[in-house]
Amino acid sequence: MSKILIIEDDTAFCQMLEKFLTKKGYDVVTSFSAADAKGKIRESSFDLVLTDLRLPDYDGIALLGDIKELHPKVPVIVMTGYAEVGTAVEAMKKGAFDYISKPFTPEEIVMVIANALTSKSSTPATINPKENKKGKQESIDASNTQTGVIHGISEASLKLNEYIQLVAPTDMSILITGESGTGKEVTAKAIHDQSKRKDYNFAAVDCGAIPKELAASEFFGHLKGSFTGAVEDKVGHFEAANGGTLFLDEIGNLSYGNQIQLLRALQERKIKRVGSTKEIKIDVRILTATNEDLLEAVEKGTFREDLYHRLNEFTIEIPSLEERMEDLFLFTDFFLKKANASLGKNTLGFSQEVQRAFQAYHWPGNLRELQNVIKRSVLLTNGDYVELSALPKEILQPKERPEEVENFSKEEYEKEQIIKALKQTNFNKSKAAKLLQVTRKTLYNRINHYNLDL
Ligand SMILES: Nc1ncnc2c1ncn2[C@@H]1O[C@H](COP(=O)(O)OP(=O)(O)OP(=O)(O)O)[C@@H](O)[C@H]1O
Ligand SMILES: [Mg+2]
Repeated sequence: MSKILIIEDDTAFCQMLEKFLTKKGYDVVTSFSAADAKGKIRESSFDLVLTDLRLPDYDGIALLGDIKELHPKVPVIVMTGYAEVGTAVEAMKKGAFDYISKPFTPEEIVMVIANALTSKSSTPATINPKENKKGKQESIDASNTQTGVIHGISEASLKLNEYIQLVAPTDMSILITGESGTGKEVTAKAIHDQSKRKDYNFAAVDCGAIPKELAASEFFGHLKGSFTGAVEDKVGHFEAANGGTLFLDEIGNLSYGNQIQLLRALQERKIKRVGSTKEIKIDVRILTATNEDLLEAVEKGTFREDLYHRLNEFTIEIPSLEERMEDLFLFTDFFLKKANASLGKNTLGFSQEVQRAFQAYHWPGNLRELQNVIKRSVLLTNGDYVELSALPKEILQPKERPEEVENFSKEEYEKEQIIKALKQTNFNKSKAAKLLQVTRKTLYNRINHYNLDL
């Protein structure tokens, strides 16, 4: 369990945060003053510190410096007032991991905390000038981002990872489905890497890219001279993957004839190279991926039902990015590091407006689109933070589902107003209702609607 210290002189707000974060599974300690906080930091260790910047007894930035001196590796998140972006930037330069401006929603703070806690385990605090020895930092980033896979903290991601771990050690054939760019290939590779076949090959074949006349030769190999163009002996993907895993991508694109050949190989566990009579024993595990509805293809008769069942001993459905929005900032952070490494940049993060735009957009191209947008924006960014001007137009004016986006921001706004009013009235719901000019009943309804059970 991660241990968090909250430093906040507004006692009601502090207790509300404590209650909420405890409910989220964190071990929370609170301090209402800098002096008290310093004592606690000296006495015990924390995984994360969340601190207000405006404290009555001490300068918040100075406190941040003190914390970083004692515990340079512990991420510190600063809470700032709405118009204090300048202070926030100063705090970041002094080594704060991140900042969050008040009022914030429960989801926002949970995301920022989770982000800080996960980044901590893989990379040291990236923005502490004292710690950030440039060369070292870059090499850590590069190795992380090349092999790195983000696991996510959303419910959809937890379930996905649970399934991956469940099926990986088995020899089951897994059908991986999901919208384009969601991470189907990444998932296939993860299954292979966690299986007992991991020391053998992982061969990926894009079935959509093979002309149907050449599929047999691609899958099973051929002998020199067996057909025009076969100028040399060729090892097919089955042989290449022998002992390991064969990943058949875009399986829905396989022609009917090729489906029969594939099914036969899977049933017999033997193949023959084209032009050869010699049988070769094959031991491969098959993983397949598709972004079309294979069952529908089975019903239409374009995909063989027997092959479908052989390939689909278990289905893993990868969630769209929209279904795992709680992971959004884990991914943005990861892709930022990746872009920095590949472009030789040192962009620190995204402005709050950019973060909001990311949250409001619906990401039809999922993780691939997010990664591309971030790389492009990092390329265009000269300052420390990616600003709105570096984003492509479609992110700013989401066209396809404008009504939802409008609702989203309206809801966000309303939620913020409610939280603000509650805070201002010390969580007296009657007074807050008056402030918001709604009835108590309406306020209760809205609180329920937004799950603001703080
Ligand atoms: N869990 C993850 N952590 C980090 N990066 C990821 C993760 N999942 C996917 N990506 C990145 O997102 C991009 C898309 O992933 P991938 O190619 O696996 O998706 P896909 O579902 O196979 O896409 P398509 O449908 O277009 O074939 C890749 O650049 C990949 O590195
Ligand atoms: Mg793919």
